[in-house]
Amino acid sequence: MTTITPNNPPFPAYRSTDKGSFAWDSTVRRWPSILDNAIADLEKAIDKSTDDQARQEGKKIRDAIVDLKNEMAADRPLRLIADKEDDTADWNRHLATYFAGATWFGGTWLFNECYMYRRLRESFSNSTCWRQYDPFGDQKLATFRGSHGSVFDLAHKMPTLIQPMTVEQHEIVYDELIQVCLWGNATDLSLLTNMTEEDIKRLQAIEKDKLAEQKKKILVDNIEPLWQKIKSLQGSRVDFVLDNTGFEVYVDLILADWLLQSGKASQVVFNCKTIPWFVSDVMPQDIPILFDACLDRKFFPGHETRSEEDFTALETMVRRWKSYVEDGRLIVREHKFWCSGLPYWYLKQEAPELFEDITKSDLAIFKGDLNFRKLVFDCDWPVTTPFKTAIGPDMANEFTSIASLRTNKAETIVGMKEGVKEELEKTVTPLEWRCSGKYAVVQYNSPS
Ligand code: F6P
Ligand code: MG
Repeated sequence: MTTITPNNPPFPAYRSTDKGSFAWDSTVRRWPSILDNAIADLEKAIDKSTDDQARQEGKKIRDAIVDLKNEMAADRPLRLIADKEDDTADWNRHLATYFAGATWFGGTWLFNECYMYRRLRESFSNSTCWRQYDPFGDQKLATFRGSHGSVFDLAHKMPTLIQPMTVEQHEIVYDELIQVCLWGNATDLSLLTNMTEEDIKRLQAIEKDKLAEQKKKILVDNIEPLWQKIKSLQGSRVDFVLDNTGFEVYVDLILADWLLQSGKASQVVFNCKTIPWFVSDVMPQDIPILFDACLDRKFFPGHETRSEEDFTALETMVRRWKSYVEDGRLIVREHKFWCSGLPYWYLKQEAPELFEDITKSDLAIFKGDLNFRKLVFDCDWPVTTPFKTAIGPDMANEFTSIASLRTNKAETIVGMKEGVKEELEKTVTPLEWRCSGKYAVVQYNSPS
């Protein structure tokens, strides 16, 4: 058996050399378009700036991003990272150890996609005036604005979800919230180049009948085993390894709020990214930005027609969330490992203190597609491979219980029952069920 490395997963890696694949489409179309959007927003910011140094540096950054696009199109080798951030040495060690000579098409899709966001960061890191600038900040806020309908609906619902209730009632609430939290992952801005606004609205639906309809699209459904775990929690710590800001983290906050109010959790830890990542991923600073947006009565479109009850429902809830942060019931933190290019099979080796720390938690909920890809090494597993096998021995047996709530936006998948794929493909193309974000999985593992 050959040795498993990040460039040599247990099953074949997805690579952009495979013409026509989703990885290939990313490299030739989606990533350049993501970089174009970042350039457009940066140019607006440069135009607005009155500081000469900022304008000059801004133009240099824009040129560096254009160079990055050209390198990609010419399939150049992945060069070392040239800045002085906390993770620069790690990135360069991974490049030299595992990806020496790899190119934009020839490296693994997972590593290369992460590398693109790290290179984008490099162009800002090396400046003085733009170190704190988020090239996706405007897009993040604009999309959150578009979620106003479901934002207010959920805020109105919240008091009924957190009132005292029986175990049976809790299960009903859980069943609904877990799905809202799952489908909230559809609001990922790195895939918006493939989805219509209508698609997103439908996936954000919170009404019961719509959720029941959506449930049919959960291809691996461990909602019940996950409930058995959540039911048993009492005054526990629950970690979220977050994905996207905006509507997704808003629904994560709703779930966290319910866990705290029901007494199942006494502490929730939000694990965030350190740098602008996959367009919409949460960095710690996105949380106060989201709170402020919700507390600004003019933020959402149609605010003129909103009632006092609408605002009060939202504000009461968001102020409670702020108080959780203030009194430490909600910890918002970051770690550089979440922005490395390695699968989580390497979490224990690369970030032992993080691994140990989350192991103290009673449950870790991994949100979204990229976290799923990293959990299962982003490779072409037989679709019926058990989740426990695909997450590797450390995560399967030595870590805490984990749940993965993911809408499918990439080819890799595991844990399907025999025959489900074949039945599905009678009516749906592989690209549709694997990559469109309209199908999903809820996977669960408890350590044995
Ligand atoms: O598949 C499209 C894509 O951008 C992937 O590259 C990436 O894994 C994913 O979407 C990001 O989605 P999420 O925000 O759910 O992690
Ligand atoms: Mg994301």
